[in-house]
Amino acid sequence: MPCAIIVGAFWGDEGKGKIISYLALKDKLDFCVRTGSVNAAHTVWKDGQKYALHMVPAGFINEKCLLRIAAGANVHIPQFFKEVELTQVHKRIGIDENASVIEEKHSAQDKASAVNKGIGTTGWGVGPAVEERARRTATLAKDMPELKSYVMDTVTEINDALDNGKKVLLEGTQGFMLSLFLSGGYPFVTSRDTSASAIASEAGVGPTRVDDVIIVYKSFMTRVGAGPLPGEITKEEAKERGWFETAAGTGRDRRSAPFNFELARKVARINGATQSAVTKLDCLFPKCQGARKFSDLPQEAKDFIAEVEKKTGVPVALVGTGPGALDIIDRR
Ligand code: IMP
Ligand code: MG
Repeated sequence: MPCAIIVGAFWGDEGKGKIISYLALKDKLDFCVRTGSVNAAHTVWKDGQKYALHMVPAGFINEKCLLRIAAGANVHIPQFFKEVELTQVHKRIGIDENASVIEEKHSAQDKASAVNKGIGTTGWGVGPAVEERARRTATLAKDMPELKSYVMDTVTEINDALDNGKKVLLEGTQGFMLSLFLSGGYPFVTSRDTSASAIASEAGVGPTRVDDVIIVYKSFMTRVGAGPLPGEITKEEAKERGWFETAAGTGRDRRSAPFNFELARKVARINGATQSAVTKLDCLFPKCQGARKFSDLPQEAKDFIAEVEKKTGVPVALVGTGPGALDIIDRR
């Protein structure tokens, strides 16, 4: 792994935060780099406490890991400071000098837009902030005096780290099916490309420097906001099956649908996945709860994993069996 990318497979909320936090601890990562913006929440459990992080990389759980916010990212300054305080990472977090900032007006524009209401955006203002950046009128992190002690050239630092054999993880946010360019779901998408290539690009890492692309699938699919969800079931049915969730970021109900193998294959191909993770297997097969060994899984759960591997053509390296960072079967 020296350089790996984590990509969400579907519409976000696949459990990337959990997979990242596991890898940060288990693989003793040197750097975790967060891309995207504040609209995505990554859930991490540490010492029995739940963190829903919108800005701080999920790798914060490993106290030796350096945390960076990518050049392509958009920084929400109040949320950044709130989370730095909450996670106590003052000394090991940095923001790329060329990252841009989201301002209060962007959120107001997002919420006032009839189009965005129809799409069901998160209301954080990321779309308007990205528009502003494309117009070349955005404010960059390096122009904000209050960020002075956090701003740095992360692109040079990350490439130096890779030259020196350090372990770097690039954290994707949202999921591939929300990609502005590639999901086919336009306009029901987020304001950026969420694919592996774009994640590398946001961090300033060239494609030939990436060793692994890890796709994170959830064992069923969920979506918040509007737009198609193939195979969608009703909220009542979702509750019955134990799949009903609310969003970590906005608290909205998540819509849900069974795992779609055809979609899973498409996503693996376009992202060039080398490995995958399947999370929340315990929601599909309650007997899996807390399992740490593949051999302890019931046959139907093993069959499901085998089918994911067969249909996607990618080995399932990690299987999530509960919310804690260590509730994982590691098959690597
Ligand atoms: P925006 O990213 O706030 O502009 O919202 C665009 C679409 O992406 C909406 O359907 C949101 O619900 C969805 N979305 C954005 N971020 C996330 C996320 O982190 N998890 C799930 N859905 C998201
Ligand atoms: Mg989320």
